[in-house]
Amino acid sequence: GNGEPPTLDIAVDPVEGTELVAKGMPNAIATVAAAPRGSMFDPGPMFYMSKIAVGPEARDVIDIDAPVKDNLSKIAKAKGMDVGELTVVILDRPRHVQLVHEVRDCGARIRLIPAGDVAGALMAAWPGTGIDVLMGIGGTPEAVLAACGLRAMRGSIQGILWPRNPEDRQYAIAEGMDLSRVLTLDDLVSSDDTFFVATGISEGPLLDGVSYSGGFAHTHSLVARGLTCTVREITAHHHLETLATISSIPY
Ligand code: FBP
Repeated sequence: GNGEPPTLDIAVDPVEGTELVAKGMPNAIATVAAAPRGSMFDPGPMFYMSKIAVGPEARDVIDIDAPVKDNLSKIAKAKGMDVGELTVVILDRPRHVQLVHEVRDCGARIRLIPAGDVAGALMAAWPGTGIDVLMGIGGTPEAVLAACGLRAMRGSIQGILWPRNPEDRQYAIAEGMDLSRVLTLDDLVSSDDTFFVATGISEGPLLDGVSYSGGFAHTHSLVARGLTCTVREITAHHHLETLATISSIPY
């Protein structure tokens, strides 16, 4: 900005799913969120968080402290589905072996993703993605980003800080952080006055990826405003030659 108010907190991940882009895989997004100064949760170096995220129908029934089967049966009931019809998106990580077993034991479907749990959380709340819930341990800043988007989509997210190692645990204790505390959407971003934007880099259930034709780059974005719960879907066509004449970055 120009140094003038309003003062904001900004959460940004220009490439959410770096590995996905490097390997030409789906679901990478560019994402940024803004909210009034002091309203976003600051995790410090506590990089990981255990999370559960859902869409509007199930926003009032999740409880990250409850067993997986209880959450899934409540989510299914809230959505008018059988547990066997639910699809749970989970980061494909060794730390999730037990979680995957528990979800399978309930009979729910699983979509393992190699990276990108901001998109995963939003998919749970955005119609037509085929995803009903995100579960598992991912980045804490990603949870703040997802919370800003979910606020506008009227979904919900809960998280508990997850220390990677004894050093993380020591840090958390020294800083007076409560490692059993459930952080709600309101704890992750305490204001309604949020803006969240995601643009697809590679295609996925949430967003189309960037494509090129006829001298244009085509992009697909979601722009979500927490205050009004308005989510705008924007398809843009960027004329590369024109942009190259007025931009300091190469097109
Ligand atoms: P990047 O934006 O750094 O590529 O993060 C991708 C991501 O998959 C996040 O979506 C997720 O929260 C986090 O990494 C998980 O971390 P890890 O890969 O260490 O399990």
